[in-house]
Amino acid sequence: MMKKFLILALIATVIIACGEKKESPSQKIKRERKEQAAAAKDGLGVGEIKNVTLNNPLNQEMVKRGLAIYEMKCAACHKLKGSRVVGPSWAGLMDKRKPEWVMNMITNVEVMLDKDPTAQKLLEECMTRMPNQNVSIGDARDILEFIYQNDLDNAKK
Ligand code: HEC
Repeated sequence: MMKKFLILALIATVIIACGEKKESPSQKIKRERKEQAAAAKDGLGVGEIKNVTLNNPLNQEMVKRGLAIYEMKCAACHKLKGSRVVGPSWAGLMDKRKPEWVMNMITNVEVMLDKDPTAQKLLEECMTRMPNQNVSIGDARDILEFIYQNDLDNAKK
């Protein structure tokens, strides 16, 4: 009885597997779009922040507030350039991550470390869980502005 079931399951698997290969062109496009959408969504991180509007030029009042929060709550673990201390250096974040991802990482770090593949990779490298710093969304937005200013400063040097 069990054997019969296993054989049936095997046949079903083979049929499904073959079916996947014989994808029509329109199915292929649909699948690729879906994959692209999933990847893009991944890049936003997990959390409340879905859409960030950036300032150009950067808002210097926000940069100043972001710097003050950085010095108080983040500097112990994050350098502004060079190599990792406890957490990764913030150099290059502007190009490496989407703004939404950065803000979700700051305001929703526990969930990000549990669910977001990029955050999980960082955790593997750093082997320390970034603690929740109780940063409000407004403060996180100021920190983002400071992170961008830092990259502009690094590029000048
Ligand atoms: C106790 C150390 C510690 C403190 C304090 C800390 N972090 Fe982190 N942070 C980490 C670690 C470690 C990681 C890498 C992910 C992990 O292992 O949890 C990280 C990752 C990050 C990342 C992602 C970096 C990248 O390369 O993508 C951002 C952004 C970040 N932290 C922002 C902040 C902000 C903003 C603060 C202050 C409000 C802060 N962190 C305070 C340890 C810390």
